[in-house]
Amino acid sequence: MAAAVELIALHKDFGKHEVLKGIDLAVEPGEVVVVIGPSGSGKSTMLRCINFLERPTSGTVTVLGQRLTAKGTQLMRVRRQVGMVFQHFNLFPHRTALQNVMEGPRVVLRVSKVEAEQRARALLDKVGVGDQADKKPNKLSGGQQQRVAIARALALDPQVMLFDEPTSALDPELRAEVLDVMRQLASEGMTMMIVTHEMHFARKVADRAFFLDGGVIVEEGLPAEMLERPKTERLNRFLNRIFWGEVPGAATAGETHLDPLDNKLDPT
Ligand SMILES: Nc1ncnc2c1ncn2[C@@H]1O[C@H](COP(=O)(O)OP(=O)(O)OP(=O)(O)O)[C@@H](O)[C@H]1O
Ligand SMILES: [Mg+2]
Repeated sequence: MAAAVELIALHKDFGKHEVLKGIDLAVEPGEVVVVIGPSGSGKSTMLRCINFLERPTSGTVTVLGQRLTAKGTQLMRVRRQVGMVFQHFNLFPHRTALQNVMEGPRVVLRVSKVEAEQRARALLDKVGVGDQADKKPNKLSGGQQQRVAIARALALDPQVMLFDEPTSALDPELRAEVLDVMRQLASEGMTMMIVTHEMHFARKVADRAFFLDGGVIVEEGLPAEMLERPKTERLNRFLNRIFWGEVPGAATAGETHLDPLDNKLDPT
């Protein structure tokens, strides 16, 4: 079976700044992968190249068997099959939750209002905010807004979902409700690429993890193995930093990596 997403020698420069320095990866249909890595390593840029929000400088991007980097590919058609969820929700502020979810099918797929509404209500139910349908985003919690954003992405019936730090703007107690929706999507067989530092989620839900640093994939493997036994000093240092980052006087680079996976930051 063809890969859902395949990147070969993907490079992306911004002017003289080489951000992606040759990324090779393939995500199989139904697979859930997480991407971790330090700020500025190119995680968002990589996701954005997959749905052509950014145009790669060189290399190939193939989504669902269609090479986006080839001339004549119907970009809009492929893009529609790739849903994206951002850190800051990006909902239309003047529209209700329901209208936000109806917009894509109405404009892009030109479905009738009745059908779009029916489907939008079903999707809002699915992500657990059916009772919030008539509220505007500023009347919703961050967790509710993000779940509306997921419903909106699902409304175009994507084959692949890209998530760029979907929980990092949320308070801890709101993260769980978003992660639950993502866990459910994964269990239904959705192909997902998730940039996240939710290590517990990565270990429980993802099939594979990639560690990106300096525009290259430094390690990849099974999440539990990779996170418990990093092979490279770079990943070891990164894991120590995200685990201990907020703890004064914590471990620094070079010290033994302690298991961050119980994920309870308890400085006492
Ligand atoms: N549109 C742009 N124009 C110029 N430089 C950019 C652009 N987008 C990203 N960059 C640069 O590319 C590098 C990688 O950015 P990117 O947003 O992909 O990193 P990231 O791994 O997602 O980081 P973070 O964890 O902070 O989100 C950064 O140095 C950033 O400044
Ligand atoms: Mg980013």
